[in-house]
Amino acid sequence: MPPVCALFVLLCSCCLNQGSCHMYERLRELNTEFAVKLYQTLVEIENRTNLVVSPSSVASSLGLMQFGARGNTFTQIENTLGYNVYDETVHNFMKAMHGELTNSSQETTIRLACALFIQKGTPLSAQFTDAAALWANSSLQLTNFTQYNRTTTQISQWITKNTGGGIQTLVPCGLFRPGFTQIALVSTMYFRSRWKTKFSFTDTQTLPFISMDGSVVKVPMMHQTADVNYGQFETTSLEKFTVVELPYLGNSVSMFVVRPTDRNTPLSSIESNLSSKSISLWTSSMKRIKMDVFLPRFKLQSHSDLRMVLPVLGVSDLFDPSKADFKGISEHSNLYIAQAIHKAEIEVAEGGTRASGVTAMVLLKRSRMPVFKADRPFLFFLRQASSGSVLFIGRVTNPLH
Ligand SMILES: *[C@@H]1O[C@H](CO)[C@@H](O)[C@H](O)[C@H]1NC(C)=O
Ligand SMILES: *[C@@H]1O[C@H](CO)[C@@H](O)[C@H](O)[C@H]1NC(C)=O
Ligand SMILES: *[C@@H]1O[C@H](CO)[C@@H](O)[C@H](O)[C@H]1NC(C)=O
Ligand SMILES: *[C@@H]1O[C@H](CO)[C@@H](O)[C@H](O)[C@H]1NC(C)=O
Ligand SMILES: *[C@@H]1O[C@H](CO)[C@@H](O)[C@H](O)[C@H]1NC(C)=O
Ligand SMILES: *[C@@H]1O[C@H](CO)[C@@H](O)[C@H](O)[C@H]1NC(C)=O
Repeated sequence: MPPVCALFVLLCSCCLNQGSCHMYERLRELNTEFAVKLYQTLVEIENRTNLVVSPSSVASSLGLMQFGARGNTFTQIENTLGYNVYDETVHNFMKAMHGELTNSSQETTIRLACALFIQKGTPLSAQFTDAAALWANSSLQLTNFTQYNRTTTQISQWITKNTGGGIQTLVPCGLFRPGFTQIALVSTMYFRSRWKTKFSFTDTQTLPFISMDGSVVKVPMMHQTADVNYGQFETTSLEKFTVVELPYLGNSVSMFVVRPTDRNTPLSSIESNLSSKSISLWTSSMKRIKMDVFLPRFKLQSHSDLRMVLPVLGVSDLFDPSKADFKGISEHSNLYIAQAIHKAEIEVAEGGTRASGVTAMVLLKRSRMPVFKADRPFLFFLRQASSGSVLFIGRVTNPLH
């Protein structure tokens, strides 16, 4: 090959790579934007104390719906996610993200799944079932919606199988509308892993935590002395807050714990200032220091009814039998989404696996190291470093609830 041609090929492949680099950067940003909006919406409408949601899981299920949506239903999903699932770069990006999640050590359990429960007998487009089979651990389940009890049992069994088990999920019955075919959209996320630096069981003590309403509760507070990424930031109204990064084993996922620095600053002032810009600023401008970290042990699971949340984010037509357009799933049926359930579950403990031993009370030696103590309501998020995906975002206002 003459040198000119070789150079041309080289340049072209550079451009291509750079192009997808920019696109990846943009996708990271879009994912984070979606995560922040989702969290802020939940905080506003659900008014719960503790809260956890998996933006990656909800986005994956919306992506799946996008394959089957047409017209305005498609546009609403595209506008909310910021991307089009038919785009090859998007596909590769998602594939890389899921590949890395699945390729974790034995000590990590990540279950990100989404399912569409569709009325038995609905003629499905082969193109859609093919796309669904390749998309983000999704599956299509057939059910008979006229048999409410069997359907709800089937859905809640699927949820239990794909999360950590435990409490059975109550599936609300959708209203069957004659002439329309129902879909139930379910997305789940379960996470359990080991910290890169373990908290020692013997260091866990019962310490006070000032909950959202000002009352003091005694909680098991874990402790470790470690080199962590640490940063102090300010909201636009000059309220200070502190961020600490605690990596999980393997370094691909970290938990960021965000807490107002000042006792009198409410968590809500940070929540309202959260944005993808602030998150990317924090994650890129923290400093490594050795410090004493105190974090309560907690376990959260939240169910969210996405029928309340998604319309606030701009996705509403898919819930409306007269507006939903899922001709991409089935050409000859009037499909709409009657139920949209999301369940997220996370457990935060000393080593990742809960030992059944009695924890010893120890008095910590006084040290002169800086201290990060999550003894008041805090925000947390789990982020996959390579994709910037927010696997979880939530808040703890009372670790005992
Ligand atoms: C949220 O909950 C608090 C306490 O439970 C209550 O006082 C407040 O009115 C609620 N706000 C909304 C918007 O429901
Ligand atoms: C899985 O992880 C190992 C070790 O980190 C790495 O060498 C391997 O390339 C990864 N495989 C995939 C498919 O990402
Ligand atoms: C996908 O699902 C399979 C089986 O349910 C599970 O083993 C795997 O961990 C899941 N992958 C992710 C990334 O959640
Ligand atoms: C769904 O259930 C109803 C009531 O039990 C039954 O009449 C109908 O044949 C079932 N449909 C399918 C496709 O199995
Ligand atoms: C369905 O469940 C409800 C409430 O659990 C129960 O009262 C009803 O008898 C059940 N119906 C059938 C057909 O099993
Ligand atoms: C940050 O929060 C403060 C107090 O809640 C608010 O006044 C300000 O407008 C917020 N700034 C942004 C950029 O959201």
